[in-house]
Amino acid sequence: MADAAALADLIRNRAGDAPVELGLILGSGLGHLAHAVDGVAIPYADLPGFPHVGVSGHNPHLHIGTLEGVRVAAFGAREHYYESGNPRAMLLPLQVLKALGASQLILTNAAGSMREDVPPGSVMLLSDHINYSGLNPLIGEKTDARFVPMTDAHDPDMRLQLEAAAVRLGIDLPEGVYCWYSGPSFETPAEIRMLKLMGGDAVGMSTVPEVILARFLGLKVAAISTITNMAAGMSDEKISHEHTKAMAPLGAAKLERILREFLRSRK
Ligand code: HPA
Repeated sequence: MADAAALADLIRNRAGDAPVELGLILGSGLGHLAHAVDGVAIPYADLPGFPHVGVSGHNPHLHIGTLEGVRVAAFGAREHYYESGNPRAMLLPLQVLKALGASQLILTNAAGSMREDVPPGSVMLLSDHINYSGLNPLIGEKTDARFVPMTDAHDPDMRLQLEAAAVRLGIDLPEGVYCWYSGPSFETPAEIRMLKLMGGDAVGMSTVPEVILARFLGLKVAAISTITNMAAGMSDEKISHEHTKAMAPLGAAKLERILREFLRSRK
């Protein structure tokens, strides 16, 4: 059984002892952002128990080093629920992140927009989410710690800082509610109409399990979506994974600038 403390030791042996402040999980088509980290990249394959990520457009390496002078751990890939049917797949990586010293996590993803005023190429800060899957990564946990409050799960202070960073850069960063739909098939137009009625602004296949796991571990979390398409039925464009990967770089450039400004301002 892989153990987070042992993995953290292994990582420190390769990347140095300085404690990590913040973790970054990179979504579809965004994995290359991890290369901005000045440090070492450790393949997930060298970290026993780390997920075997099979989705193209991801970079299965843990990059540890500095970004804008802040010590970060950037996960170039996540395992999605739809790969193995395990909503807890990212538990061990997040336990390792905590063992390395991090207290904060920023999650990123590619998502479909359900708002006409948030077109492809936009970035959206998650104000909250709807766990439409009904799945929960904490099912099976044995202690009362499993009853995690989810009010303010998307940390108000981190959100304010990210918004302030975007304002300073003149980048639009609307807030919205993200709906987790398990995938891997995309949604139907009828499902999107329903999600809109429920109060959703964006839809995607990730992030929500990691928000829950991170809150369980006591990490503060914020999440940003890069909008790659209008959700099903909202435009004539064909929705596909190829399209997601092709469109992600549009939002990725904005995302990288916001992240760098956020990190610069915390020093
Ligand atoms: N639906 C679900 N996941 C997604 C989408 C979408 O429209 N776009 C990118 N990831």
